[in-house]
Amino acid sequence: MRSIVLFLFFWLSYVIVSHAVAEQKGSEKALREYYDLQEGQRLYEQYCRFCHGAEGKGKAFDVTPPPVDLTSQAVQKKSDADLTQTIHEGERGTAMGSWKWELSEKDKQNVLLYIRRLAR
Ligand code: HEC
Repeated sequence: MRSIVLFLFFWLSYVIVSHAVAEQKGSEKALREYYDLQEGQRLYEQYCRFCHGAEGKGKAFDVTPPPVDLTSQAVQKKSDADLTQTIHEGERGTAMGSWKWELSEKDKQNVLLYIRRLAR
């Protein structure tokens, strides 16, 4: 009988502790994403807003072809890899230049995170 009580006691402590640990990990992840998003926004405003607009709707700068609406279905349905590639390389013959010198891999991820957020 006593060993059952002891067992239950340890089992319960284990459940409580592992739950607390999992929760802490979850909030760390949320916090990291929050900062990545903040950073993405900062970069977007510094480099992209000029053409793609404060809300990402495009056409903020008058060029042909016009800066795309980054929140549109046509853009949003493209994969992360595709969009990152365009940000990295730019698009030939358009005003969309390459950002490979300004933005690190992490920067590109963060700015993309922000573009995805703008579309929500
Ligand atoms: C000088 C203006 C200008 C700036 C600054 C600019 N863009 Fe663009 N961007 C464009 C234009 C114009 C296009 C459309 C090219 C086309 O029609 O093919 C475009 C296209 C894109 C696309 C491709 C969308 C698709 O359909 O695949 C992405 C992604 C993008 N821009 C992201 C960015 C990001 C991120 C930044 C900032 C780091 C940025 N742009 C800065 C002008 C700009």
